[in-house]
Amino acid sequence: MKKLFTAVLIVGALMLGSMNVLAQDTMSDKSMSKKHMKTRSLYHRLGGKKAIKAVVDEFVNNVAGDTRINSFFAKTAADPKRLKKFKGLLVDQICQASGGPCHYKGKDMKTAHKGMGISGADFNALVEDLVKALDKFKVGETEKNELLGVLGPMKGDIVEK
Ligand code: HEM
Repeated sequence: MKKLFTAVLIVGALMLGSMNVLAQDTMSDKSMSKKHMKTRSLYHRLGGKKAIKAVVDEFVNNVAGDTRINSFFAKTAADPKRLKKFKGLLVDQICQASGGPCHYKGKDMKTAHKGMGISGADFNALVEDLVKALDKFKVGETEKNELLGVLGPMKGDIVEK
């Protein structure tokens, strides 16, 4: 009887132990996947180059239809080759800034926008057009804010009045 009692105790202890291990496994799985999500680059979380291209297309369409700022882009919109180059530069810039495998070969933001007389309101309008594009493709709040966090600091180099 004493032996049986000891055996029950041992089995019970083993069961509790394995339940605990299971619980720890589940917990570490959860924390690992959370950690993994955080360490994946913004580029990957945005969906890679194909997704960035789709967002840039939509974004540029939004800008072209935005009467607050589309006059800045009149020459770009009227020339398909120039438009293609501009979109390609935007894709590379966003790809690189989000940790992707691209290399932006365009001008720095100060040089690119020098003399255009872009105002704070113009800048905010363009950001609104970008947010609209990101929302259309259901980019998550975290990713959206991270991307805006990368582009936002460029404002000082772009805005002249
Ligand atoms: C975070 C905000 C912005 C980013 C990331 C950005 C990015 C760029 C890039 C990568 C280029 C191409 C540079 C090159 O030719 O080497 C460019 C050009 C240009 N940007 Fe911006 N820009 C921003 C804001 C603005 C704003 C607010 C305006 C006007 C409302 C504007 C108007 C233009 C124009 C007109 C060009 C010349 C396009 C062409 O060459 O055909 N940008 N920008």
